[in-house]
Amino acid sequence: MDINGTHYRTIWVEDDGWSVGIIDQTLLPHEFLIARLTTLDEVCIAIETMQVRGAPLIGVAAAYGLALALRTDASDKSLLEAIERLGATRPTAVNLQWALEKVRAAVENLVGEDRVSAAYAKAAGLADEDVSACARIGRHGAELIYEVAGGKQDQPVQILTHCNAGWLATVDWGTALAPVYRAHDAGVPVHVWVDETRPRNQGAALTMWELMAHGVPCTLVADNAGGYLMQKGMVDLCLVGTDRTTRRGDVANKIGTYLKALAARDNGVPFYVAAPSSSIDWQLDDGLTEIPIEERSPREITHIVGRNGTEVQTVEIAPSGAKAANFAFDVTRARLVTALVTDRGLCPASCEGLISRFPEHSS
Ligand code: MRU
Repeated sequence: MDINGTHYRTIWVEDDGWSVGIIDQTLLPHEFLIARLTTLDEVCIAIETMQVRGAPLIGVAAAYGLALALRTDASDKSLLEAIERLGATRPTAVNLQWALEKVRAAVENLVGEDRVSAAYAKAAGLADEDVSACARIGRHGAELIYEVAGGKQDQPVQILTHCNAGWLATVDWGTALAPVYRAHDAGVPVHVWVDETRPRNQGAALTMWELMAHGVPCTLVADNAGGYLMQKGMVDLCLVGTDRTTRRGDVANKIGTYLKALAARDNGVPFYVAAPSSSIDWQLDDGLTEIPIEERSPREITHIVGRNGTEVQTVEIAPSGAKAANFAFDVTRARLVTALVTDRGLCPASCEGLISRFPEHSS
């Protein structure tokens, strides 16, 4: 996507040919700063602290983390240790394990410099693959928006989204927001209701920032507003991302997604989940019992980060010493999902639906 006329991806190899550039997402929306990652440790910290975040981007970052680790030490021991360390950084998004496995398979029979170059090449390949998968999701998902637009006589299609599943969460384009960008660029009027997405406010900070930068009409709402908006007929469709989609179509996404799906069902609003193939975990069936849910620091609940004048500050919003629990994701059952928007097209959120698009996983 373009920022002030310059095209950016969220991750790239710097001109030195080996270090990894990222947009530091912990500083947005107040500051647009590029960070340079040079070691495995720095990549692990970047993923854990959410300088890079969003399931697809986490996967590609981990792939580059492996390349950096191998550049320092290309031994089997180093490879296995790096996979273990990166794999433990964030548990819910399966894209992380997916990417690590792809790089491992690409380098396991190589040694030395060949192993290092193969790791970089694979990481770059996964980044490109993510961009084209998201672009395809954009094309398929935009059809849903066009369909609604057809009945609205130039009134904007009202879309509600949760968290950030835009280009910042991927390498480019985004998953849930890719159809929005596509429709907007095609001249179809859209308007996005953006859930603030407590506790880290990815909606307020990141989704609003990227939609506004692209000129897409959008309005920030409190996390709890979605139900009201749907009751009032102010939402035509919900479109969210997924960090892990099970074989039968259950989806884990940012905490609060499930409540939006319930409200959508109660109000007859279609609830779509944009699911790139890298987010599908073919090993799991039951999302609720099988998907590991990340629990993050309670400090993300008791404190909030914001700008005061020119200074970015963290302030406490609960009584000092308050006990807090920070479940980062929840699971929405397949039955609440109207359809999955995959990179191979739309399908029902069910085993049969997914297999119809990915027949190679039928056994
Ligand atoms: O904790 P985050 O910011 O990494 O969570 C991101 C989300 O929940 C996204 O919706 C999800 O990764 C899908 S993104 C394309």
